[in-house]
Amino acid sequence: MTETVHVPLGDRAYDILIGPGLLANAALHLDPLLSRRRVAVITDETVASHHLETLTTALKTAGIAVDALALPPGEATKGWPQFTRAVEWLLECRVERNDIVIALGGGVIGDLAGFAAAVLRRGVRFVQIPTSLLAQVDSSVGGKTGINAPQGKNLIGAFHQPSLVLADTDVLKTLPRRDFLAGYGEVVKYGLLGDANFFDWLVQNGPAMADGDAAARIYAVKRSCEMKAEIVVRDETEQGDRALLNLGHTFCHALEAATGYSDRLLHGEGVAIGCALAFDLSAKMGLVSQEAPSRVREHLQAMGMKTNLRDIPGELPPAEKLLDLMAQDKKVINGQLRFILAKDIGNAFVTAKVASADVLDVLNNGFLR
Ligand code: GLY
Repeated sequence: MTETVHVPLGDRAYDILIGPGLLANAALHLDPLLSRRRVAVITDETVASHHLETLTTALKTAGIAVDALALPPGEATKGWPQFTRAVEWLLECRVERNDIVIALGGGVIGDLAGFAAAVLRRGVRFVQIPTSLLAQVDSSVGGKTGINAPQGKNLIGAFHQPSLVLADTDVLKTLPRRDFLAGYGEVVKYGLLGDANFFDWLVQNGPAMADGDAAARIYAVKRSCEMKAEIVVRDETEQGDRALLNLGHTFCHALEAATGYSDRLLHGEGVAIGCALAFDLSAKMGLVSQEAPSRVREHLQAMGMKTNLRDIPGELPPAEKLLDLMAQDKKVINGQLRFILAKDIGNAFVTAKVASADVLDVLNNGFLR
């Protein structure tokens, strides 16, 4: 059973296909996009060891030639050196303007390969084959591509929409539980920001989903992609509403910076903690009931996820320093930080009207929780 979410962006419209077996059937779905029977695949060494052979065998059997480059796994890959290597490799492979680049991997590979496709010969088409839950529900959809700068994450990049997304839910079986749950942080985010029914569904079905329930995984990826697609279509280049997708991310980015973008805190784990803190801040400002942050934490805890600052191993800097790190956020406009807050579960909004004292209070309480 394959589900389809269409992203209606005019001449940049594309489909997100979601379901089992898509990697093995990739040729069928890629065929209509090919102007000649060859593709260049950018992946990482870990993903390559699990999935590259399935993809290349499927493509070669269909008469599609494959060149593949496996980069080192991990966030450190998402910088100039590996980006330069990828772009030069694509040129060495003589990838032409009408060819297709495939990003096979998680968020790092999707962002880097997408950015390489965006700048190669002033833009070639690319296909996302996301292999992590986080990439399937967030980074592979919506056309944000890029790499990190020493000054911060994702500060160099371009909007470049993929031509197709193949989210093969079978590949999620190879994910370590911690990585799966980190991706789940982004799934919960969708319920919290815009669909209370989806949040309730996750409360009921999240544990089965984490334990491998295939139908639940397909539904959760589909609903997340539908919500993301709807917001991206409203605001492709993040002039307004797209910032809603950053619920939990302002706190998360500060926590990631404070933990050195290390294994101490995975991005999705930071998003989950950030969502709980965003609900704390909303409650502190009298926007939601005191019960709402408790419901958020209860669910995350039931999933075995980190929900509090104290769940992050090692020392964290004091609240003032975390607030300072938030000021580096990309959502800062004219020096004013914007937060995504909530009026209820499933009803988030963007605002710049937040007093630093309230943020400091929430962080300081967070240290005690
Ligand atoms: N990950 C947030 C966005 O794509 O806008």
